[in-house]
Amino acid sequence: MEKDIMMQKAQSLMEGITELPTIPVVATRVLELLDKPDVELDEVADMILTDQVLAARVIKIVNSPLYKSAQEIKSVKRALIYLGFRHIRELALTCSFIEAFQGKDGAFGMMTFWEHSFGVGVVSKIIAQRARYPDTEKAYLSGIIHDIGEVFLSYYLQKDFQNILDTMKGEPYKLIDAEERFLGTTHCEIGLLIARNWNFPPEYCEVISSHHAPREATLDPTLAAIVNLADYFCSVRQLDYGGKEWVSFNLADEGAWDVLKKFAPHMRNFDVERFCYELDDRVPEIQEMVKSIFEGIVVQ
Ligand SMILES: [Fe+2]
Ligand SMILES: [Fe+2]
Repeated sequence: MEKDIMMQKAQSLMEGITELPTIPVVATRVLELLDKPDVELDEVADMILTDQVLAARVIKIVNSPLYKSAQEIKSVKRALIYLGFRHIRELALTCSFIEAFQGKDGAFGMMTFWEHSFGVGVVSKIIAQRARYPDTEKAYLSGIIHDIGEVFLSYYLQKDFQNILDTMKGEPYKLIDAEERFLGTTHCEIGLLIARNWNFPPEYCEVISSHHAPREATLDPTLAAIVNLADYFCSVRQLDYGGKEWVSFNLADEGAWDVLKKFAPHMRNFDVERFCYELDDRVPEIQEMVKSIFEGIVVQ
């Protein structure tokens, strides 16, 4: 189906929803501050601190094993210094997104959803490191948010979405194909609309829109390919939305693999089987991390 037609369909589905999730006020102010050319780090830290939950989540994520800071970071200011200005915007958006959907179980349980999302974030970062992609944090954050359209479908179109999941149970359908067939659009188009609404930076919008078709990406096809591959790896291991989707893939047949090898020719020696075993070892760590991000937020 044409992308334009699927975008229109996504638009009309979203127009039918009266209470769309909105970005928290403080996050909007943080983003406005970051647009100022002469902004000081202290100003941003003070603004984040006016929302204790946002502040706590920023600290949790910066202390998560993926950022691997040598010491525990206990203050927002230290977290911002550690991160640098480069990724504060995406981190604020990601935390806000988690906030907006906190506690909203839909057709997917939220923990299952976030385990998949953070799993894809972690694996994207690992693939990015191996491919020597220059911005591994960007790979991590785009992995976390790649399926935001899915959480929308799962919560706001719960009945239709549950029907789709029931229909494809045990059948060799990919979720994205089933969405296109039954809804006339997919989580990629819906996710793109949400991301644009929330003013996510363009490369992130592109990953959300193209993570199942990285060859269509124009801004950063390598990033879309990394997330696409990470998504496959998570979907065939234990970070698979609770096994709701049938997934099978052969790396050699994937467009994403071609895109990645073009960017990083040394990846042709990549040992897939070994990588899957390594991934299995990391699953408990990822599950633990998600739990810690969602539970027991304590502001220091
Ligand atoms: Fe997806
Ligand atoms: Fe996914």
